[in-house]
Amino acid sequence: MKASIVFAALLPAVAAASGQTATSQIRLAYHGDDGMMVSWNTAGHVERPTVRWGASADKLHNTASSNVSVTYPTSTTYNNHVLISGLAPGHTYFYLPSPLPHAEDAKPYNFTTSRKAGDKRPFSVAVVVDLGTMGRLGLTTSAGTGVASNNMLKPGEKNTIDSLASSLSGFDFLWHPGDIAYADYWLKEEIQGFLPNTTIADGHRVYEAILNDFYDEMTAVTATRPYMVGPGNHEANCDNGGTTDSAHNMTYSASICSPGQTNFTGFKNHFRMPSDVSGGTGNFWYSFNSGMAHFVQLDTETDLGHGFVGPDEAGGSEGEGAAPVNATANAQAAWLAADLAAVDRRATPWIVVAGHRPWYLSHKNVTGSVCWSCKDVFEPLLVKYGVDLVLSGHAHLYERQAPLADGEVDPKGLDNPSAPWYITNGAAGHYDGLDALQSPRQAYRRFGLDTADAVYGWSRLTFHNCTHLTHDFVASKNNTVLDSATLYKARSAVEHRAASPDSVLTDCGDKNGYGKDDMRRIPVR
Ligand SMILES: *[C@@H]1O[C@H](CO)[C@@H](O)[C@H](O)[C@H]1NC(C)=O
Ligand SMILES: *[C@@H]1O[C@H](CO)[C@@H](O)[C@H](O)[C@H]1NC(C)=O
Ligand SMILES: *[C@@H]1O[C@H](CO)[C@@H](O)[C@H](O)[C@H]1NC(C)=O
Ligand SMILES: *[C@@H]1O[C@H](CO)[C@@H](O)[C@H](O)[C@H]1NC(C)=O
Ligand SMILES: *[C@@H]1O[C@H](CO)[C@@H](O)[C@H](O)[C@H]1NC(C)=O
Ligand SMILES: *[C@@H]1O[C@H](CO)[C@@H](O)[C@H](O)[C@H]1NC(C)=O
Ligand SMILES: *[C@@H]1O[C@H](CO)[C@@H](O)[C@H](O)[C@H]1NC(C)=O
Ligand SMILES: *[C@@H]1O[C@H](CO)[C@@H](O)[C@H](O)[C@H]1NC(C)=O
Ligand SMILES: *[C@@H]1O[C@H](CO)[C@@H](O)[C@H](O)[C@H]1NC(C)=O
Ligand SMILES: [Fe+2]
Repeated sequence: MKASIVFAALLPAVAAASGQTATSQIRLAYHGDDGMMVSWNTAGHVERPTVRWGASADKLHNTASSNVSVTYPTSTTYNNHVLISGLAPGHTYFYLPSPLPHAEDAKPYNFTTSRKAGDKRPFSVAVVVDLGTMGRLGLTTSAGTGVASNNMLKPGEKNTIDSLASSLSGFDFLWHPGDIAYADYWLKEEIQGFLPNTTIADGHRVYEAILNDFYDEMTAVTATRPYMVGPGNHEANCDNGGTTDSAHNMTYSASICSPGQTNFTGFKNHFRMPSDVSGGTGNFWYSFNSGMAHFVQLDTETDLGHGFVGPDEAGGSEGEGAAPVNATANAQAAWLAADLAAVDRRATPWIVVAGHRPWYLSHKNVTGSVCWSCKDVFEPLLVKYGVDLVLSGHAHLYERQAPLADGEVDPKGLDNPSAPWYITNGAAGHYDGLDALQSPRQAYRRFGLDTADAVYGWSRLTFHNCTHLTHDFVASKNNTVLDSATLYKARSAVEHRAASPDSVLTDCGDKNGYGKDDMRRIPVR
């Protein structure tokens, strides 16, 4: 039975908006270079979630299964998670989860496993931050009271999910470091008169409808491309950190939320990120390799350690009331230090780190917009270990910054800097999703787009080889690149920064393969 039929009796408009064509929300996640986590949703509990798979669409002769079919209070679905292991790196496989709720879904999907670490062939990755549901529960051509017209889609305008779905051949995986779906916008959308009013007690139905809608829409991307996610504040609870109804002089708090809508519950149930194979914690922090890059997802929302209260924790700046996710003191920072120290720069010369919140941005330096405690905790490690690129969002705009360390612009710019390069791109789009950059622009700002430009978009990273990495801002409406910049690393200064012996090995390979023959010893100056 479809959950949306239950809504239909209670909430006709919301049920209609969600289309009543719920898909199974199929999503993939890398799990090492020889595994793939396959996740999907069903209306009921599944005793033995199973995935049939094989090397061609007509030969799904292998099966993988699990007993992981989990839900939470107020959810309308169960989240099934099955790990397929023992795969070959960089290979395409066909698969079909079972059971699926709709017979029409029963055609094989396909995925490609992660590139083997050390594979130096060029590849691209798509990154979105702050992406919410599109259409009648979220970002569309209209909005409620108080939303600027620049933040709405123009009639016929292609949104970011459609842009990604039409660009699948252009990226290996999609990375989404936080603010996923914006289900906690249900109350704001009701107060602004965009969604029909419910009672507060019924709010969880709208919250879950938005989640289901978003994950359904994303299936066009996530059933074929791994979807690597991290936590953002909009995953934390149901009231958007304190929604205000100014007409009624009221501000809501997390106390209105059902247990299923607090403490990142939906986020914890929905995904299975590869923290078990990278020593991290749940979907909150973890790392993975693909080809010539090491990717690190950080948690800027909780567990900053070192005595800082995370922005989404009880007593934190956002009023989300979430609990830390790891009881070990300073677990995240200690993990980050160990993870970065262990990177084999010969295999994965590039290190890209993403966390939801920025600390360098042309915006008022106020907690909530800029996470200075995140800087205090993370930046020293990112500098020490020569991280190449740091990505964030949270502010709903695009700003490309210079490489910088402790507020000082690296004089070398993109030409072999020793400081990490920073880019904030929270312009993927949601219900009212664009903010303004603030003046004066910071000295480290290099390019920006904000609500004045009325453009939604996503980031594309292209790893050309071990010395060149390009970041593009892709406008969702027409898939054109509105900003492009390339980082050059000479690959001797960087390894020098890590605690390494008296010399480092650099293996830049060639564009056709693994380049073992090219391995050479570079003396440290
Ligand atoms: C699920 O399977 C694991 C082993 O794969 C087992 O340890 C665990 O007890 C099972 N859980 C349930 C609820 O059956
Ligand atoms: C994999 O699935 C995608 C999306 O349906 C499709 O475009 C592509 O052709 C498939 N690849 C293969 C090798 O069949
Ligand atoms: C809609 O519901 C909210 C939450 O109960 C309430 O604050 C608001 O006043 C209602 N708006 C209207 C127009 O009834
Ligand atoms: C709004 O509510 C606060 C307390 O909740 C009260 O102090 C204030 O006077 C109210 N403002 C108006 C305009 O009613
Ligand atoms: C918490 O962090 C420690 C140290 O990094 C790790 O061993 C442990 O597995 C983490 N706990 C959870 C619940 O992930
Ligand atoms: C989150 O979980 C903690 C610990 O279980 C609990 O004390 C807290 O009240 C929860 N937060 C909310 C907003 O319910
Ligand atoms: C930003 O604010 C923090 C306090 O919240 C302060 O320590 C820091 O120096 C400020 N940074 C800048 C660049 O003003
Ligand atoms: C690396 O890629 C860049 C950008 O495509 C290119 O200009 C450069 O020549 C390449 N370097 C090598 C050694 O192939
Ligand atoms: C694509 O959209 C951008 C942003 O509105 C615009 O500046 C650009 O001219 C468009 N390009 C094409 C080829 O339509
Ligand atoms: Fe955010």
